[in-house]
Amino acid sequence: MDAVLVKQVTKAFGPGRQALAGVDLAIREGEIHGLLGPNGAGKTTLIAIMVGLTEADAGSVEIFGLDVRRELPRVQRMVNLVRGFSGVLEKVTARELLIYYALLYGAPLGRVEEVLRRTGLWARRDEEVASFSSGWRQRFFLAKGLINRPRVLFLDEPTVGLDLDAALAVRDLIRDIAREGCTILLTTHYMREAEDLCAGIDLIAGGRIVAGGSPQALKDLVRTPDLPEPTLEDVFLALTRESLEVADA
Ligand SMILES: Nc1ncnc2c1ncn2[C@@H]1O[C@H](COP(=O)(O)OP(=O)(O)O)[C@@H](O)[C@H]1O
Ligand SMILES: [Mg+2]
Repeated sequence: MDAVLVKQVTKAFGPGRQALAGVDLAIREGEIHGLLGPNGAGKTTLIAIMVGLTEADAGSVEIFGLDVRRELPRVQRMVNLVRGFSGVLEKVTARELLIYYALLYGAPLGRVEEVLRRTGLWARRDEEVASFSSGWRQRFFLAKGLINRPRVLFLDEPTVGLDLDAALAVRDLIRDIAREGCTILLTTHYMREAEDLCAGIDLIAGGRIVAGGSPQALKDLVRTPDLPEPTLEDVFLALTRESLEVADA
């Protein structure tokens, strides 16, 4: 069974403002799956629909066979969402905030210590999250993302704005989380990150999936005698620009 199955999802934010135009996507259990596309492509909107924060106009999303619209409470117990650049309350420590999230998700309080240790935050548990550097803050948000033991974790640009060391630490954590059996959907603008982490990737542009496959299969799509060794950046530029030009025509 697929962990995530998206069928023909459409969403418009008003007349002529089609954010998603019939998206199909499938993610196998245990996979780290990349969703790559330029700003405005529809990634965040699709994620919001997949976790039940926004309703699609048409189409369906299933998480482990459960329809998000019909089984929302059950689905929301199985998923969690982490974004880049999230704000945090002042004057609240990492442990206090995680206790709050544990209560919100109905997770046992023992889970707070587990996720603090899991993300390397245990030694800093009594410090205010607002005082953390962006890298430590993002670790905190991954801890929050794990609080309900999600089967699917949605990571929307989790390393945006981080310096290289912090980004590498977050990538290592993402890899560990997947190794423990959690399925992950990752959006990122860093092609190297996608290539290092993702078994499967979908490219989205203008609200449509324009190509999908392993990093290698995607490179094969744009390989030419002039470009015998394409990078994922080459793939991204060729396929997302091409599709936007077709849509404009
Ligand atoms: N709440 C909203 N109201 C109106 N338009 C929106 C809203 N959210 C997203 N959009 C529009 O939908 C499109 C897709 O946005 P988004 O999903 O944020 O893309 P991405 O995450 O790929 O950058 C954009 O054109 C954006 O302006
Ligand atoms: Mg976005």
